[in-house]
Amino acid sequence: MISIANYQFYCSQLVSRMIILLLLTALSLSYALQTPERQLGHLLMGNRTSDVFIDAFFDNICSDCAADWPMFSKVISQDYLKNRLGVAVHIFPLPYHHNSFFAAWAGETIMHTNTSKYTNYMTYIFQHYDDFITGAVGLTEPQVKQKYAIAAETSTGIKAQVILNGYRNIQFDTRARQAWKYACYRDVSGTPTFFVNDVAVPEASGFDMEQWNSFLGKILG
Ligand SMILES: *[C@@H]1O[C@H](CO)[C@@H](O)[C@H](O)[C@H]1NC(C)=O
Ligand SMILES: *[C@@H]1O[C@H](CO)[C@@H](O)[C@H](O)[C@H]1NC(C)=O
Repeated sequence: MISIANYQFYCSQLVSRMIILLLLTALSLSYALQTPERQLGHLLMGNRTSDVFIDAFFDNICSDCAADWPMFSKVISQDYLKNRLGVAVHIFPLPYHHNSFFAAWAGETIMHTNTSKYTNYMTYIFQHYDDFITGAVGLTEPQVKQKYAIAAETSTGIKAQVILNGYRNIQFDTRARQAWKYACYRDVSGTPTFFVNDVAVPEASGFDMEQWNSFLGKILG
């Protein structure tokens, strides 16, 4: 027979277990990657039926990405890859690059406004990435957003106000978050990271142009 004291203990245990279960459910919901409303990634060229498809995971203000991008963009724009290669960029703002998420968010606004201008924006931010790291120490969040808005206008011609309005748009915020979550989901933990035909190629972050060409040449035959 359960005594009153035991019964009360049993109930309080039950209640705390239920609370923990509810908390876990809430947490797992906020961690879950919702089914996106469209394919993820900023498609730079080709499509997913191309002979070779590269998913490139970049952080907008990462020095390694900034160093890699000029060469990688040359690789993918070579004539022999035309109509055979597809490339999507996924933005993975690393938490220790404090202002990086706002770069990703502005990028979503640019993609929504005019997809063909995204590369100009990404290239420009890579060229000026340190303005958003050491050059942004002590800036408030609105000042950082303003800085990205001006950079976006300079690089794409899209008005700074459009980017600032984008920072109030939940849909663009969600897309930037989904990109981050998707990278986690694919086990990406640093940038740049490349997947070729859906499989990670860890060594590709160190490839030079010749190594990329030899790698892609083997796949394309
Ligand atoms: C996808 O790419 C292939 C190869 O370049 C092309 O033939 C096809 O038209 C493209 N499909 C779409 C929907 O753009
Ligand atoms: C997008 O930008 C390109 C130039 O980069 C321009 O030719 C095109 O008209 C623009 N599209 C829209 C919808 O503004």
